[in-house]
Amino acid sequence: PFVGLDVGTGGARAVAVDEAGRVVAEASSPYPLLSPRPGWTEQDPGEWWRAAREVLGQIAERAGGEIRGIGLTGQMHGSVFLDGADRVIRPALLWNDQRTQKQCEEITARLGRERLLEIAGNPALTGFQAPKILWLREEEPGNYRRVASVLLPKDYIRLMLTGERATDASDAAGTLLLDVARRDWSEEILSALEIPRGWLPRVYEGPEATGLLREEVASELGLPAGVPVAAGGGDNAAAAVGVGVVREGLMSSSVGTSGVLFTHTDAFSPDPSGRVHAFCHAVPGAYHLMGVTLSAGGSLAWWRSTLEKDYDALVEEASRVPPGAEGLLFLPYLTGERTPHLDPSARGGFIGLTARHTAAHMSRAVMEGVVFSLRESLEILRSLGASVEEVRATGGGARSPLWRRLQADIYGVPIRRTTADEGPAYGAALLGGVACGAYRNVVEAVEACVKLRDEVTEPDGRRSEVYGELYEVYRSLYGANREAMH
Ligand code: XUL
Repeated sequence: PFVGLDVGTGGARAVAVDEAGRVVAEASSPYPLLSPRPGWTEQDPGEWWRAAREVLGQIAERAGGEIRGIGLTGQMHGSVFLDGADRVIRPALLWNDQRTQKQCEEITARLGRERLLEIAGNPALTGFQAPKILWLREEEPGNYRRVASVLLPKDYIRLMLTGERATDASDAAGTLLLDVARRDWSEEILSALEIPRGWLPRVYEGPEATGLLREEVASELGLPAGVPVAAGGGDNAAAAVGVGVVREGLMSSSVGTSGVLFTHTDAFSPDPSGRVHAFCHAVPGAYHLMGVTLSAGGSLAWWRSTLEKDYDALVEEASRVPPGAEGLLFLPYLTGERTPHLDPSARGGFIGLTARHTAAHMSRAVMEGVVFSLRESLEILRSLGASVEEVRATGGGARSPLWRRLQADIYGVPIRRTTADEGPAYGAALLGGVACGAYRNVVEAVEACVKLRDEVTEPDGRRSEVYGELYEVYRSLYGANREAMH
């Protein structure tokens, strides 16, 4: 088997997958998300390492001796600042952290929005790594002086596992420091931002081996020493591999903490409006476009904890409310928004409340609002020429019949699922399988492992029509309330 390790936002998760794609072991371990100030999100990389060791140890107990390869994935964009002895300098700033608006403006002023889109495939956005490095320079100069390297979350775990400083092209693209077409660091951006190239790891393709599992780690965890560790991918690229989105014409829809609509592209083709991201794929030489809703499952998690209710009971109640929640709409901008507004100051809200509405209506509105937001990404991808005949569901939301139904009805396209609903860790395992030579390339690994379930969630014409009308109202709400949010 091969192991995929996902350093997620909610916790670490590992799966072991055999040559035919069957999941033979699975383990997860949560860790907290710190929010020391409104709009700030941080995590302690030591917690990631503790959780990673725990889940890998559990996998080793069940499938240990036979593990042939490991692939890494994780939350994108985070910044781990390390000193010259590889000690963590301060908690990592995460992908949904919104403190860097000023630094984004500075980056845009130094490089120009057009040039950034051309090189990095994206405008400067608060979650990305580059503005976080500038933030440290400006706000914590003492810490900044100690920096000897900056890594992405999964790449810090790689350093612990293998001793190597490396990343993969898909995750590197989320730093804003990559020349995305060339798949290597951009000298032009680095010099404009005065960031030393020596701080950054070497960039590999997703299925390439970046090093071998260190002996002392292997013996502590019960894994074979010398197992190759694949570069892997950012969680969205790895999840896309895991559901077979490795050629043009295929699209995936993920509802996790964030929500992502993802499509494979053979060529680097950034969105001229910058509303969807253009990044490298974990498939060598390929690219992808994706739209991101920052609080997707995160909105429901917030709502569930606000109500102090059990998740299943909440979703069950929501499923009994009629489509459209009797006129109640929800804006899911709880942590600002990326696609389509690119606005860290966007704020959430319920609109249309009446005395008739119950908590169950509100639960349904939360879920519908998230999918309306994802539909905005779908429309942009469609306008850029992406084919949207069928969408593959992934992320935690793929397991919920109601999330799948809402996606089918609100997108107006059939939703398919694969047999192994294991998210990014599964795709990372396949990349590990290529790295150890079990498959010749990513497409071959996908052909051997990724199978579609027979079950298809078809859109219902009547419900789609109701949602079509509500979607137009939803779309008007951000603009109408923008002033109040800021
Ligand atoms: C993608 C993004 C999120 C994180 C979540 O750009 O910020 O999807 O990768 O883990």
